[in-house]
Amino acid sequence: MMTLITSPKNVLEIGTATGFSGLFIARALKDGAKLTTIERSAPSLGIAKENFARAGVGGKVYTICGDALKVLPALTGNQYDMAFIDAQKEEYEEYLTHVVKLMPAGGVIIIDNLLWHGQAAGGPLISAKYEESAKALIKFNKHFLGRRDLSAAILPVGDGIGLAVVM
Ligand SMILES: C[S@@+](CC[C@H](N)C(=O)[O-])C[C@H]1O[C@@H](n2cnc3c(N)ncnc32)[C@H](O)[C@@H]1O
Repeated sequence: MMTLITSPKNVLEIGTATGFSGLFIARALKDGAKLTTIERSAPSLGIAKENFARAGVGGKVYTICGDALKVLPALTGNQYDMAFIDAQKEEYEEYLTHVVKLMPAGGVIIIDNLLWHGQAAGGPLISAKYEESAKALIKFNKHFLGRRDLSAAILPVGDGIGLAVVM
């Protein structure tokens, strides 16, 4: 929906997995617009590429196989007018710092799982295995909402959607 609303020319996604969210983004892109999506799991990215091709959007999607923390510093310019962050929760702050540098004023950033099933919003831990990610998201959410270079909000939709505009 955000892709349809903002009609971005260049979208950056961090965390492709098998291409589910990427398909929604790619299908909503106008002619000539592109999605660049980063995934560190080669098997997942292979499935994603098949899915993009089968859906007829392969030509709109540029995939990068690698660790986003290594890929992002190598990208340059204010080239992405929309970004979707949905990878390792403990790394969100680092992704965001890189992503903001790659976007012009007015660029839109969307971040998934900021409420983390309530665990990042004062709710109980679902399992000990989420302890680190929940702590990281509590810290990240403060950082995200406090950044002066963003106008940011966390929407209680789904698992918590971060929505920001680069100032
Ligand atoms: C929640 S899944 C993404 C789901 C996808 N965005 C969707 O909605 O269909 C998170 C993905 O991020 C990938 N990932 C985690 N850390 C990463 C990193 N540092 N660099 C690149 N990919 C990463 C994982 O391999 C996993 O496939």
